[in-house]
Parts: sequence; structure tokens; C-alpha cells
Amino acid sequence: MSFEDHLIVAPLIRGLWINASGESRVVVPSAGVPPKAPDQIVFADLSAAGTADSLDEAPALKALKEAYSAWEAAKKGNVKTQPSCIKVKTSSNEEVVYWIDRDLASARKRSENGDGSPLELRSNVTTGSGIAAAGASASDRSDVVKNKIVLVTGGAQGFGEEIVRGLAASGALVFIADLNQAGAEKLAETLNAAEKRIAAVAVPVNVADEASVETLFKAIVKTAGGLDLCVSNAGVVKAGSVLEQELAAFKFVTDINYAGFFLMAKHCGRLLRRQNLAAPGWKTDIIQINSKSGLEGSNKNGAYAGGKFGAIGLVESFALELVAYGIKVNAICPGNFLDGPLWSDPEKGLFVQYLKAGKVPGAKTVADVRASYEGKVPMGRGCTGADVMRAIYYIVEQEYETGQAVPVTGGQVMLH
Ligand SMILES: NC(=O)c1ccc[n+]([C@@H]2O[C@H](COP(=O)([O-])OP(=O)(O)OC[C@H]3O[C@@H](n4cnc5c(N)ncnc54)[C@H](O)[C@@H]3O)[C@@H](O)[C@H]2O)c1
Repeated sequence: MSFEDHLIVAPLIRGLWINASGESRVVVPSAGVPPKAPDQIVFADLSAAGTADSLDEAPALKALKEAYSAWEAAKKGNVKTQPSCIKVKTSSNEEVVYWIDRDLASARKRSENGDGSPLELRSNVTTGSGIAAAGASASDRSDVVKNKIVLVTGGAQGFGEEIVRGLAASGALVFIADLNQAGAEKLAETLNAAEKRIAAVAVPVNVADEASVETLFKAIVKTAGGLDLCVSNAGVVKAGSVLEQELAAFKFVTDINYAGFFLMAKHCGRLLRRQNLAAPGWKTDIIQINSKSGLEGSNKNGAYAGGKFGAIGLVESFALELVAYGIKVNAICPGNFLDGPLWSDPEKGLFVQYLKAGKVPGAKTVADVRASYEGKVPMGRGCTGADVMRAIYYIVEQEYETGQAVPVTGGQVMLH
């Protein structure tokens, strides 16, 4: 079975198991240890679904469903368990085993020990119709991401780091995808130690490079089988007058902030659509971290504001198309993160830059520049990671909304 096949089979398996349990699942391809208790596992013959190099989704899903049903039938009414292991055979006669559990550490442990014992279902869940009924709400808002598989681009620092920390603390498995691989790895190590579980996995990506984005999604599928939430946060700013800015600088910003979001939505959308084939009731989310500069112009910062405005057009358009696959697409438009490195870095932060450039008339210190920016916000302070996290929880919990741009600006930018 070729590596590419995991891209098709693992999300279908993940969807099927989610559909039957109503809970998120992690799916890990075999590390080679054969399953113990073979009578407990599911066997699916995908020979009819194409060759190992080109597997067809529909017949593959049909074969997987039939295999799951056969396992259920053999349980003779005991619906309180779910298989934790499926052996899949393709036309090349190769067999691959996928291990399924609630979290990455448990699924990996099964794979290492060959533990195919059934997975206990939560007492309030019945198989076959496990997806939560409409209107069900989380007891704690952060519960909406608990045990979910999420991806945050640009997660090594700034708003991305805040979002990664918030999601990990809420019980999600977070893929930290960043150009700065060392920073992403360091953050993952810190979080895994603090949370005492596999809470985060670092993966390199350049969101402006399609091959790199494709590789990112392959790595996610190979590690965990699929995804529930993608936060497209990576972004850059290069301010400059329209009369002076070099085209190269304009394109650099646009490639990351605008085209980069297109690439993320394209490859994420393909994965989420496949999962949705097997779990039609399971809602997933793509959230773009936009800006208040996506809602009103920004003087001498046209490349940034233009890309952010444009990305809201992408959000609305993608939302219209992807709603058919249970994928919600929304943007969050934060105000200035004055405590973040972009503004507060003592050497190259915007406060220092603006002080040196005399951008704030009368400002003599960094504190004066900061006070000037705080003064622009009706609520008198900059935006924080916690403010953005509240918007993320809202968007994920709100099943009845898509294609929106949610402002988080302390009243600085109001809707027209
Ligand atoms: N800082 C603010 O005041 C503010 C306000 C509103 C919106 N935003 C938005 O929030 C997002 C994050 O901004 P921030 O201020 O935290 O930025 P930041 O510069 O502090 O961090 C950005 C992260 O993205 C990574 N990155 C940059 N280019 C990348 C690429 N091509 N591929 C993958 N990773 C890449 C960087 O390595 C870094 O870790 C951006 O989309 C930005 O437009 C920021």
C-alpha cells in the first residue's frame, strides 16, 4: 500500500468511526506489530476499489462500511463498544493495519502493543447515529475543541502561539505548522510536558508554497488520520506607501496572506471533504485569522490591508462551496496585539520602529507610542490571545453560521 493511499483510506476510516461514535477519533497506520485478538478487529478488502496507486473513494468507503457493519453484527447487539483496529487489503494484496482511539498517545500505544481490544463507547452514545443532535451545547465553551485534531499555521509565535496554547489547554491535539520549525518544536515540547500528554506536534510549512502545503496535510493524515479545525493564521506585514513600495514587497505580503490562505483552504478542504463522505453530520471548520485591516483601509499599508480584504472574499466564496461538505469557513478580525512580538519586540517591534520614524507626533518613548495606539481603542487596550480564543470557540460551537468575519477589536472597527 503506497503512502498516498493513507491519504484516502485514513480520513475515510476516521469519518466512519466518528459517524458511529459521535466523538473525534485519531487513526494511526500500523507500525508493523500484528494485532492481538484478531477476532475483534475489522477486515476490509479494498481490492475492488482500484489499484494501490489509485484508489477510488466511493467503492473504498462502501467496502469499509460493510466491514464495520459485519463487525457490529458479530457483536450481536452489544453496541457499547467500537473496533479499535482495522486491517485493510488493497489490490496489490498488501495489508495495512490502522489503529483507532480517542487520542494520539492511546492510538500509538495500541499500535506498538498490537492491542486490538474494542474501544469502550461513552454511555450516552449509540452506534450508527452517534453525531451529537443539533442544539447540543458544550458544558464549558472550551469543550468544543476537546480531543479534536487541529492545525494552526504560524503557530510558533505571536497570535498563533496564543491560539496553539489555548487549544492545547482545552484538550485538542494541535499541529503547529510554521516556517520556523525550531520554534514550533520547542513550543510543542513545552506544551507536551505541561499537559502531560501528546498535546502538540510540530510540522514544517511554508504556506506560500503549494508543495509544502501538500506535504503538511500528508503528514497530518499519516500521524492522526484527519482534521477537525484548521486555523490559517500565518501572516506577515510589510508596510509601505503606494508611491514607494517595491512590487517584490507587495507580492511577498500577498503570497503569504492571500494566496497562502487559498492554498491552505484548497488542501485542507480536500481532506475535510473526504472525511465528510464517511461522517456527513460531523461539522469541521476553517478559520482564517484576518485583521481589523480586512475591514477598513490601512494608511501606507495597502499590501497588508488589500490581502486581508481579499481573504474575506475568499472566506465568503469558499464557505458557499464547502458548506456541502459540512465545512464552515469563517474569519476572525483581531485588533492590534500590542503585547505580541510584532509590536513589542524591543529591537524590531512596531513600537520601536514607529518611535524612530516619528510616526506618532510628540511621542518620546515606546510607552508614548503604545498609549497612542491604546487610545484608538474604545475599550482602551490591545487585543489578546484570550480575546481571539473566545471567537474561535464561538465559531466552532456555532453550527449555524458560515462565511462571516468576526471582529475582535475592542470596538475600534464597527460593522457598516
Ligand atoms: N499582531 C497584530 O497586531 C495582528 C493584528 C491583527 C491580525 N493579525 C494577524 O495575525 C496573524 C499572526 O500575526 P502575528 O502578529 O502573531 O505575527 P508574528 O510575526 O508574531 O508571527 C507570525 C508567525 O508566522 C510564521 N510565518 C511567517 N510566514 C510564514 C509562512 N510563509 N509559512 C508558515 N509560517 C509563516 C512566522 O514564522 C511566525 O511564527 C497574521 O495573519 C496577522 O495578519 C496580527
